Amino acid sequence: MQNWLVMAPMAGITNLPFRLMVKKLGAGLVFSEMISSVGLSRKHQKTLAYLKSAPAEKPFSAQIFGSNPGTMAQAAQIAIDAGADMVDLNMGCPVKKVVKTGSGAALMRTPKLAAEIIRAVRQVCASPLTVKIRAGWSANEANASEFAQMIQDCGADALTLHGRFAGQGFTGKADWDLIADLKSKLKIPLIGNGDITQPAMALALKKRSNCDGIMIGRGAIGNPWLFDQILALEQGLSLTPISLSKRKAFILEHFHLLWDFMGEYKASLNMRGLLLWYTKGLPHSNQFRESISRIKNLDSLLKIMEDYFSEIDQHTRISDSV
Ligand SMILES: Cc1cc2nc3c(=O)[nH]c(=O)nc-3n(C[C@H](O)[C@H](O)[C@H](O)COP(=O)(O)O)c2cc1C
Repeated sequence: MQNWLVMAPMAGITNLPFRLMVKKLGAGLVFSEMISSVGLSRKHQKTLAYLKSAPAEKPFSAQIFGSNPGTMAQAAQIAIDAGADMVDLNMGCPVKKVVKTGSGAALMRTPKLAAEIIRAVRQVCASPLTVKIRAGWSANEANASEFAQMIQDCGADALTLHGRFAGQGFTGKADWDLIADLKSKLKIPLIGNGDITQPAMALALKKRSNCDGIMIGRGAIGNPWLFDQILALEQGLSLTPISLSKRKAFILEHFHLLWDFMGEYKASLNMRGLLLWYTKGLPHSNQFRESISRIKNLDSLLKIMEDYFSEIDQHTRISDSV
């Protein structure tokens, strides 16, 4: 880990191009999106493709999910052989498709099985092994503390806590006090996660919890500069708004990486979604948002962006001199 800032694993988001972009802006550690251990063990090409990595993003952690200890160990081995520097076990995902197989957050309800999985993976994984959990399944099953102790006892090197119950999804507020409480009880490093959207919030969570790392998810989509700004704020530097020209150049760079990774058309579809995030909060975006669906190649992306950015340039006083 190059610094204490961690980009969260996010399905459908944290592909290689996205990871390279946030890495450039200061993320100290990046994760793949969650990868099916079953798909890896069966050598499905589509699943194996999630392991594609590049030197510039290292260290890179592959996150796997599943509920069978042998399959999880096999998948971890495949991830390491493919070049992952670390393996992370997903024990916090609340999505139905995942928990109905006994994987993700469902494992917080079956701690014995979770322990078997961690031990099985530990046996084959000499690289750093981490686990990502939630506060528990629900308020009635709030077992993060015992579960984390078990993770530590099974030989994991670190863990991440997203301070919400699985049943909460993304509602309510992440419980930062729980993160602080867990940090005070653990010997292994703890990464705290939940609701960081502003630079000062990252410093506040770090201070309050004494966590070894802070993980950022949604706050970095469309705002990868968050990492850079947190590091600047930590050094006492003043923060400047992201200029339109910087934003534009960054979007295009991201598009080109996506193109290399998945081809021009798929990159265009992917960029449609990302643009909604990249322009969140910018003025006059209604018409732009409608035109996004017309993006199908680089030319249409350039045209639509040019039109929009020159419109806001004319109508607002966002400084472009940074
Ligand atoms: C679209 C989306 C996809 C996610 N996919 C994963 C995943 O693949 N693995 C995982 O452990 N967590 C996943 N998460 C949860 C995030 O890693 C993170 O724990 C959560 O978003 C809370 O952090 P935040 O408040 O900074 O967003 C996902 C979250 C979102 C919004």
